[in-house]
Amino acid sequence: MMSDPTTEKNIVFSVVPGGVLQGTLRVPGDKSISHRSIMLGSLANGVTRIQGFLEGEDSLATLKAFRAMGVNIKGPEQGTVVIDGVGLHGLQPSAAPLYLGNSGTSMRLMSGILSGQAFDSVLTGDPSLSSRPMKRVITPLEQMGAMIESTDRGTAPLHIRGGRRLQGMDYTMPMASAQVKSCLLLAGLYAEGQTCVTEPAPTRDHTERMLRGFGYAVVTRGNRICVQGGGSLQATNIDVPADISSAAFFLVGASIAEGSDLVLEHVGINPTRTGVIDILKLMGADIEIMHHREVGGEPVADIRVRSSRLHGIRIPEELVPLAIDEFPALFIAAACAEGETVLTGAEELRVKESDRIQVMADGLIALGIQAQPTPDGIIIQGGSLTGGVIQSHGDHRISMSFAMAALRSSGPVEIHDCANVNTSFPRFVALANGVGLSLTES
Ligand code: S3P
Repeated sequence: MMSDPTTEKNIVFSVVPGGVLQGTLRVPGDKSISHRSIMLGSLANGVTRIQGFLEGEDSLATLKAFRAMGVNIKGPEQGTVVIDGVGLHGLQPSAAPLYLGNSGTSMRLMSGILSGQAFDSVLTGDPSLSSRPMKRVITPLEQMGAMIESTDRGTAPLHIRGGRRLQGMDYTMPMASAQVKSCLLLAGLYAEGQTCVTEPAPTRDHTERMLRGFGYAVVTRGNRICVQGGGSLQATNIDVPADISSAAFFLVGASIAEGSDLVLEHVGINPTRTGVIDILKLMGADIEIMHHREVGGEPVADIRVRSSRLHGIRIPEELVPLAIDEFPALFIAAACAEGETVLTGAEELRVKESDRIQVMADGLIALGIQAQPTPDGIIIQGGSLTGGVIQSHGDHRISMSFAMAALRSSGPVEIHDCANVNTSFPRFVALANGVGLSLTES
């Protein structure tokens, strides 16, 4: 089992100011797709082979949880995982609570699956995950007939009762969340009749695409997505593209570091994930999509990015769910841009692995940038970055974003509490140094 990060060493990133990003880089596999590949591969009939699997702590937490429920999973070995699927009704109760570390995706999606099982389950997580809102899945799952106990604050540990009969339902989500949508669609596999989810704005659709890849019918009409309970999943092979959310740090880094020219290979460019490219282009970034292709139901491309002069913008609200994990990196771009950048409609950022609006504002201010947090966003004045000391609050994306900020800072940047970079981006330090960052960890 993973260790609890609160007892882990305080990993510190020390980044030398300046530098240029050059060369070619393949960042690790997509986290969202890696989670889903374990879940659907485990619940399918037959053997599923996965390539490009993200060997980060979050997706490994999902893998270990399914192993603990009796699924024979081989690997990961250099990104390859082989799963002997047990079918939708073949999971066994875990002998111990399922510890999901830092991973919100594991907890929310598995809540849907486990609500449909014959046995009870307990889901736990690290202090960050244990403070994140779970009512958003508990409430609709209970409307379907599930029974889930949480803390009084609606947080983990979650005790999910088995042996419940789930009924399909029509649910309109109050927030644009792919995790809530996916949770309910996965519960819908076990429900009587049809389960439909309507989203207020499009969110990542990897669950829908992968269910279809496993031969399960999903009907999407506009923002309403429906599945019929009682079907089965047939094993398939999955090629996981590189994660655009990990590529995002380098898209920003190469954009802000003068003289940079970088190619990111085999990146997933599903249109529900490419808000970061759209926003950077609106700011004046020089990004070229090359060799556009389709791999296993997901669009993939190589992305070339060259440095350019960025300018501040008012970020269109419809792009917010399509770039939801990339805002820490985008705030660094805004700090290096000319003029003001305004983000609104992004209150979800406050309930991620950290409160990303406050933690980023504090870090930017520590580097001499004017940043004004608002309830649902931030206002950033582009300027000159000094060096400084950053508290990442154990949030992987905060750590990696400020590592990129050093490319434009006048003094060294020291970032604390970076152990969780391993949740989504193993070997970040080596890969970043390989293309031009000067980063040491201690
Ligand atoms: C994810 C959905 C998003 C995202 C998270 C991964 C997913 O969360 O922030 O990193 O894999 O479905 P929300 O659904 O809470 O927006």
